[in-house]
Amino acid sequence: MNLVRQAARQLPPAQREAIHTFIRRVQRSIHHFVLQHAVRNRFAAAAYYSFVNHEFLREARAVAAGQLRYASDHRTQSGSYYLLRRNIHRLEKGLIMRPRRRVFAADFIDETVEIFAHAMRSSGGEWNSELVWAEDVLSDYFAAVDVTTAKVAPAYAQYLNIEKVAREPDAVRAVPYRRNLTLPPPVNFEDFMALTRRRRSVRWYDDRPVDRMMINRALEAAAQSPSACNRQPFNFRIFDKPEMAQRVTAVAMGTKGFAQQVPAVAVVIGQLRAYPFERDRHVIYIDGSLAAMSFMFALESMGIASCPINWPDQEPHEARIREIVPMEEDERVVMLISFGWPDPTGMVPFSSKRSVADMATFNRIA
Ligand SMILES: Cc1cc2nc3c(=O)[nH]c(=O)nc-3n(C[C@H](O)[C@H](O)[C@H](O)COP(=O)(O)O)c2cc1C
Repeated sequence: MNLVRQAARQLPPAQREAIHTFIRRVQRSIHHFVLQHAVRNRFAAAAYYSFVNHEFLREARAVAAGQLRYASDHRTQSGSYYLLRRNIHRLEKGLIMRPRRRVFAADFIDETVEIFAHAMRSSGGEWNSELVWAEDVLSDYFAAVDVTTAKVAPAYAQYLNIEKVAREPDAVRAVPYRRNLTLPPPVNFEDFMALTRRRRSVRWYDDRPVDRMMINRALEAAAQSPSACNRQPFNFRIFDKPEMAQRVTAVAMGTKGFAQQVPAVAVVIGQLRAYPFERDRHVIYIDGSLAAMSFMFALESMGIASCPINWPDQEPHEARIREIVPMEEDERVVMLISFGWPDPTGMVPFSSKRSVADMATFNRIA
């Protein structure tokens, strides 16, 4: 094709264009033909994405790096907090089950106690919210199950031996609880709906800096988001110095024309080290996006505008962002979010939304 293109350069413009159009058509037909086979046959798809199109290779590499990291964290128990979080969450689910079983979690309680023991040692006696949660749930777990059961007894013995610094008695124990439903929800639907309508992707900001305290409050809201097994496999890397924010924002594809006046940006990063299996590789994008939405709503509730920014998953962009934002091999960019005080003279697209009838169906089965 390149030879044909080179030869075409010698021709008059009209013929050159005709040849280019012909080449594009041939390329499209070949692509279509290959894709049709890839859809029908998974080996053809694998061959295509291994030898012809390399777009998935970076993700595959990151997934492999994540699994390696998961395994090494697990083996050395250094910082395998993802597994601790997941297992404590599973214990909580066992505790709230109706009816609750006399013994549950027998196949992972030993591993959980081991990780907890390690986490306590590495914290040097300092309690943090995660350790408090783990400790409280474990103590409720051992109070609830039959600790003489063969599979639970060794874990219980190890749990009792863990050295713990005395803790201030907390007002609230970090264990399953009944919500106080006597009060109405703190936000009514009309107010919430108004917030969803007010939030729009805002691309024009004024140059007032966003108070760090407000950013932290929005992050606190983001941290409340749901995540699969409560693993929370994301990080928000914030750039609130305008020159840095603009450099980062400019790497994304969809920011031409407004990147140069973005006062702050969050890079939402997913960590694949949270998972031992490929089956969960997409969860960083789901969990990261749920947290991103809460972050944007929280900003909006304080009058700060934002715009989610697509992350193009392609080699040159990945290389460029990694030159600016430190990232490990298993870390993937989920999206960027620019934010700042809205410029009152800046316009926002109307962005019509679909109707509920168009968006959802009820009880439709195959
Ligand atoms: C994942 C995602 C990626 C987006 N990427 C960009 C982008 O690169 N550039 C941009 O200007 N807007 C971007 N947007 C904003 C959308 O254009 C915007 O959300 C959509 O048009 C609806 O408008 P609204 O957010 O005001 O409701 C993105 C939004 C999402 C959710």
